[in-house]
Amino acid sequence: MTILGIETSCDETAVALVEGKKDYVELKANVLASSLSLHAKTGGIIPEQAAREQVKYMLPLIKEVLETSKTNLETIDAIGVTYGPGLIGSLLVGVETAKTLSFALNKPIIPINHMVGHIYANFIRENSKLVPSSQSLMPNFPLLALVVSGGHTDLVLMKKHGEFTLLGGTRDDAAGECFDKCARLLGYPYPGGPKISKLAEKGKSNAFPFPRPMLGSHDYNFSFSGLKTAFLNATREHFPILRTSDQKIGWQQIILENKLSEKEKQTVYDLCASLQQAIITVLVRKTLKAAKEHNVQSILLSGGVATNQLLREKFEKSLKQTLPEAQLFFPEKSLCTDNAAMIGITGYHKYLKGEFADMTVSPTARATWS
Ligand code: KG4
Ligand code: ZN
Repeated sequence: MTILGIETSCDETAVALVEGKKDYVELKANVLASSLSLHAKTGGIIPEQAAREQVKYMLPLIKEVLETSKTNLETIDAIGVTYGPGLIGSLLVGVETAKTLSFALNKPIIPINHMVGHIYANFIRENSKLVPSSQSLMPNFPLLALVVSGGHTDLVLMKKHGEFTLLGGTRDDAAGECFDKCARLLGYPYPGGPKISKLAEKGKSNAFPFPRPMLGSHDYNFSFSGLKTAFLNATREHFPILRTSDQKIGWQQIILENKLSEKEKQTVYDLCASLQQAIITVLVRKTLKAAKEHNVQSILLSGGVATNQLLREKFEKSLKQTLPEAQLFFPEKSLCTDNAAMIGITGYHKYLKGEFADMTVSPTARATWS
């Protein structure tokens, strides 16, 4: 069984082809085009511009996937496509492409929640094979998924395939958003997470006593906007120039262009390391608390923030100490950020359950877990 996966929820255009074998799914092709560099110039994604780029990329990417996998459109069994959450204009490009293919080829559409796709990236193995869940190489149920991306910080309990219970989520900024906004304060463009974690490598994580928001709350919700404010205040305090209103000086430009003394550079590294530490501490502690309460067998990290090396290491260490019987999973880095392989693999699982959509399927900016 062959599924074509299409993902266009944000600035990426991605297409993949997965093939269901007897007891695993093989990733035959996985390609992606990003308009990130375009948006970096403007400091953020301009939705119409992103969608226009996606229209340009879509057909060449489908062609590339078919060529790479030495297959043709007639042999695919279904089209899996992200219908939300995301930017409406961008989602429309993917959904309309899927509808057109569905109509022309008479193949079903499988609508896929982008966040569910992030979780299912954990069911793709490095050797491109999906091993059945009965084997230990695969996550076992019940499992707890932490989805940490630019727009979401969700803790989701799964007792079986396709069943999701949201235990908690962010009340304001997502973890990735906090990384992005703090990086932006320093003058760095989206995505800020990789930049902050790189700068943090040379910093002391206890240099700034940033808050650990909602660490002690009795629920599984998160909040990161206060942390962003604490970061802003600490940055202003240590860089008096930031308090001046002289826009000509442009403190962000000074940091960006690295016109800093060695001591000032160290302060930037320390700020980044302390911020990263605060975010990771909250994510790890709350996830493990939920994992214990629900006695899960596997913990799955997913979404762009799951590429963070320190996050992975802290999870591994803490899990060994507090819940040694549970297993930790995270996708390879290219499958943590947005991709279509995760949409193809989710499509495969939905295909097995016969979860198809008709031509009335439409994108939605806010898709929920239920
Ligand atoms: O899943 P994703 O590619 O797109 C969304 O669906 O949002 O996640 C993007 C997010 C951005 O906020 C980015 O800053 C963050 O993932 N990110 C990181 C790292 N790499 C990407 N955050 C922290 N550390 C990283 N190494
Ligand atoms: Zn995403």
